[in-house]
Amino acid sequence: MYGVKISGLGKAVPELEVSNDDIAKFIDTSDEWIESRTGIKSRHISTGETTTDLAASAAQHALTDSGLNADAIDLVIVATVTPDYTMPSTACCVAQRLGIKNATCFDLAAACSGFIFASEVAVSLIHQGNYKHALVIGAEVLSKTVDWEDRNTCVLFADGAGAAVYARSNENKVIKILTASDGDGSDLITLPSLTEPNKFNETQNTQKYMQMNGREVYKFATTAVPQNIQNVLADTGYTPQDIDLFILHQANARIMDSVAKKLDVDNEKFFKNLHKYGNTSAASIPIALADAKEKLKPGDKIILSGFGAGLTWGSMFIVWE
Ligand code: UT7
Repeated sequence: MYGVKISGLGKAVPELEVSNDDIAKFIDTSDEWIESRTGIKSRHISTGETTTDLAASAAQHALTDSGLNADAIDLVIVATVTPDYTMPSTACCVAQRLGIKNATCFDLAAACSGFIFASEVAVSLIHQGNYKHALVIGAEVLSKTVDWEDRNTCVLFADGAGAAVYARSNENKVIKILTASDGDGSDLITLPSLTEPNKFNETQNTQKYMQMNGREVYKFATTAVPQNIQNVLADTGYTPQDIDLFILHQANARIMDSVAKKLDVDNEKFFKNLHKYGNTSAASIPIALADAKEKLKPGDKIILSGFGAGLTWGSMFIVWE
């Protein structure tokens, strides 16, 4: 089995920053409600930047950070639920933008767990020796999927992309990944595909936008995530108290505080940047990792953990190079 490490990180967000007060100008909400219930203060919203634009920009930063050339990349996976096209894949479009030739490129949809699921695929394939350098990108333009008159969702979700380069390495730094799904919760967060009925079918889609049962998803996250983190650490010889930094999907600061309490870990160890970016689904973990990079030291033990629609969830235990 070959070792794997993260050799580069990058992120990209749209230029326009939209504050809670900006949103309170057009729907019945307030900065006080949004910040106290979620921790979000502001977010970046596309004024034309596409999922491919953001994914390619984050990927280029990650590639530069890794010191590799485009021709070294032999695998590109984009985790997204908001691709510009169902076909071609966003991964193929990113490869074209970056000049990556002959790589295996595909998209993967696991909602807010997408970066963890895509990382599991890429890391396993590098472990096996099939590939040497994989670009794994989480990229979303969620602003095109929310009803901007629905205060239950539009104050939460936002746009952005984060990317990591996974590289074959003599020393293995990706210790363990553990993912799971529960289709019984598939109705808790939904986003229909944009399709028209065919010539023989007059059934119309009644749901146009993303819908979420926030309270049920909150209960799921605060139960499944601490359990999953305990499980990913089982058999590694480490406990949650040994971990230097937890980077969770940035959905709600209260979820992170609850997970910290359940694991009996100081919540200062939970990295938070959702006050600046909101919930960017598959992009949130790699954006947070890119933001956290400056304070990481070699040997730091890190847990990355995602959860969301599907239901899907998963955690990854890495040691910083
Ligand atoms: O990324 C995928 C995973 N997603 C998540 O992890 C999200 C998990 N869920 C959550 O983070 C929280 O459930 C939310 C932030 C979505 C909602 O917070 P909450 O504390 O669970 O609020 P709630 O849905 O129970 O609503 C409480 C009240 C309601 O009013 P009533 O019925 O008590 O009168 C809502 O109508 O807050 C109202 N409300 C709002 N008020 C002002 C809901 N949204 C807003 C809003 N502004 N934007």
